Amino acid sequence: MKKTILSGIQATGNLTLGNYLGAIHNWIKMQDEYDCYYMIADLHSLTVRNDPEILCKRAMQVLAIYVAAGLDPEKNTIFLQSQVDAHVKLNWILNCYTYMGELNRMTQFKDKSAKHADNINSGLFTYPVLMAADILVYNADLVPVGEDQRQHLEITRDIAERFNSIYGETFVIPEAFISEQGARIMGLQEPTAKMSKSTTNLNDVIFLNDDPEEIRKKLKKAVTDSENCVRYDKENKPGVSNLMTIYGLIQEKTMEQIEQEFAGKGYGDFKMAVAEAIIEKLESLQKRYNELLENPEELKAIYEKGAKKASQRADKIVNEVYRKVGLIL
Ligand code: TYM
Repeated sequence: MKKTILSGIQATGNLTLGNYLGAIHNWIKMQDEYDCYYMIADLHSLTVRNDPEILCKRAMQVLAIYVAAGLDPEKNTIFLQSQVDAHVKLNWILNCYTYMGELNRMTQFKDKSAKHADNINSGLFTYPVLMAADILVYNADLVPVGEDQRQHLEITRDIAERFNSIYGETFVIPEAFISEQGARIMGLQEPTAKMSKSTTNLNDVIFLNDDPEEIRKKLKKAVTDSENCVRYDKENKPGVSNLMTIYGLIQEKTMEQIEQEFAGKGYGDFKMAVAEAIIEKLESLQKRYNELLENPEELKAIYEKGAKKASQRADKIVNEVYRKVGLIL
C-alpha cells in the first residue's frame, strides 16, 4: 500500500516562487511513490475579504499552476477543498477537541491579525483546525509544506492524538515533510522575511506568471551586500544566500558548486544567471498555464473527477468519526 500525501495552497493572491520551491517542487517528485491528494484551499481564503469573482478566478489559476507545473491529474487527486463536504464536517468536530489556548499560540494567527486588524474573524482564529481536518480526513501520512506551516502540523498531530486517546485509534498521526533547502524562500528586497504573495512591495516577490523582463528587473534590484563575493552565509549574507538557494534548487546544484561557478565573478553576473535560470524554469510552466486557462472545460473535468475521488475516501473517515462521537448516521 502506498503512503498517503495531502497538501494544498490557498487561492489568495498570485502564487510565488516561494510556493513553487517550498511546496509544488517537492509534490512533483512524490507523485509516483505516494497516493497524493492536492487541494486548492479555497475555504481558507475566506478568512480574508475577497471579491467573489476574483476568488473563483484565483482558484482556477492555482489549479492551472498545479497541472502546468507537472502534477499529473491521472496520478494525483486534485480538487477544490470547498467541493469535498467531509472537510467541513470534520472541521466542526475537531473544533470541539481544540483548545483556545492552543490556537492563541499560533504565530500565523498573530501575524495575520496584525495585518488585518480590521477583520480578526473567528475563521482566522480556527484556521489551523480546518487545516487539521484537511489532513486527517484522508489519514495522510505525510504533508509536504514550507517551514511556515510547521506549527500547523504540530497542532494537527496534537488534535489527532487527543482524539485517538479518547476514542481509540482513528487518525494516522501525520508528519510534516519539509525539505532542507527551499523550505523558506526569502524576499528579494527583504531577505530576512519570507517571500509572500500578500506583500505590497512587488519587487520583493517573483510571481509564477512574471514575464522575463519583470524577472530580470526584480533580480537586478535584489538586495545583496557590499562583499561582491558569491558565498553562502545565511546569517551575514541573507540576500546572496537566498539567491544561491533559489539557483541551487532550480539547477540542482550544491552551495559549494555555486561558489565555484561564480568564483571571481561579481554580483551582476550572478544575479543575471539566477534570473535566466528562473525564466527558463518558468517558460514551459507559463505556456501550459495559459493554455489551461483558455480551456476551462479541461480544468473542470480535473476538479470534478478529483472531488469525487477525494469524497469517496474522506466520507468513510468522517463517518467513522461521527459514529465514534455518538452521532447517528
Ligand atoms: P499557503 O497558501 O500560504 O502556502 C502554500 C505552500 O507554500 C509554502 N510557502 C513557502 N515555502 C517556502 N518559502 C516561501 N517563501 C513560502 N511561501 C509559502 C507554504 O509553506 C505552503 O506549503 N494553510 C496553508 C494551506 C493549507 C494546507 C492544508 C497545507 C490548507 N490546508 C493542509 C497543507 C495541508 C497555507 O496557507 O499555505
